Amino acid sequence: MAFSLDRVVPWGRSYDEYVRMFDLGPDELGGRILGCGDGPAAFQAEHHRRGGRGVAIDPLYAFSAAEIEQRIAATHRQVMAQVRANRADFVWITIPSPEELERQRLAAMAPFLADYETGRQQGRYVAGEAQALPFAADHFDLALSSHFLLLYAEAVPLAEQRQAIAELLRVAPEVRIFPLLELGGAPSRHLEPLMEELRAQGCGLELRRVAYELQRGGHTLLRIVRPVLTNEAIEALAADVLALRLPRERWTHQAHLAVGLWHLRRHGESQALELLRTRIRAHNVSAGIVNDVDHGYHETLTCFWLRLLAVHEAAHPQATLAGSLALLLRSPLASADAPLRHYKPERLFSRQARAGWLEPDRAPLPR
Ligand SMILES: C[S@@+](CC[C@H](N)C(=O)[O-])C[C@H]1O[C@@H](n2cnc3c(N)ncnc32)[C@H](O)[C@@H]1O
Repeated sequence: MAFSLDRVVPWGRSYDEYVRMFDLGPDELGGRILGCGDGPAAFQAEHHRRGGRGVAIDPLYAFSAAEIEQRIAATHRQVMAQVRANRADFVWITIPSPEELERQRLAAMAPFLADYETGRQQGRYVAGEAQALPFAADHFDLALSSHFLLLYAEAVPLAEQRQAIAELLRVAPEVRIFPLLELGGAPSRHLEPLMEELRAQGCGLELRRVAYELQRGGHTLLRIVRPVLTNEAIEALAADVLALRLPRERWTHQAHLAVGLWHLRRHGESQALELLRTRIRAHNVSAGIVNDVDHGYHETLTCFWLRLLAVHEAAHPQATLAGSLALLLRSPLASADAPLRHYKPERLFSRQARAGWLEPDRAPLPR
């Protein structure tokens, strides 16, 4: 069905609301961001003005600024009348009143309108649909859906929500959706089925409470992280390490973390450490890696990573093994230089640190 403007009520949130709804910090804002279903929100305009990179996509962008502006003018009173009639469904704290909401929404749409025609020419506003994105795989670092997926539970049925999320995960390694409610304020009927399917695919899932609530109960975002390895692949990797048949080139940082998580889940932190001491040494020998005072098994690094994995696991108690790995690899905790945030190099790379546990000298271990 063609997207017709007279069926749309353009309504857009501010940059600041996006930052709070999606819990965006410097790491996220520094990457390429896809705003899916951004409508007349100010996010793209302000993000671009601040030097950020990214694109907004919406079927609305088939229309001109003048057409969208006319439609905003023709519909905003009707939206505000609905808000006033359902005043109790909103939390008037961050935005104290319907009058302030109206002022903020109109103020948020102004920078969008001012930026729109130039942004369209620059390819920053793309007319299109979430279910068939006109972008190459991995074109973005993060995809956001504000007040579109999950919320439009009736207009966008489960199969289309699923298709849209698959598309978003194709073009970005992580998708964030806010809110998790339907228009009437009930939890979205699609949330549980989608989470179950995504979990089974090995996605990392996180429900994160954020510092934003306008629709009552709308204070949580869903993070979906693209799978890295399935549960079965992690099991197979651990089995290869135990059977001393994992080739050296497959013993990557990612493989270390996956095998560490597998041990932690199965045996708990202290027994996992005992086992890893023996098994990493034995694996090294089988893969032609020498274990001596300067090479191979490193006690401080092994203890360090295991502690970090335990901290990560405690933060994601509901995650599957594959989901936990996916979330871990998206986290700054897991970057290969994490140990150097806690240790000075001369201490970390000393013979003493390799032979036995040394406490950090730069920053305490994460708890
Ligand atoms: C309520 S508005 C949200 C606007 C903005 N994200 C915000 O939070 O302020 C929902 C938007 O979803 C867009 N939309 C509808 N169907 C879509 C689709 N299939 N793909 C992408 N966006 C779509 C609409 O055009 C509309 O702009």
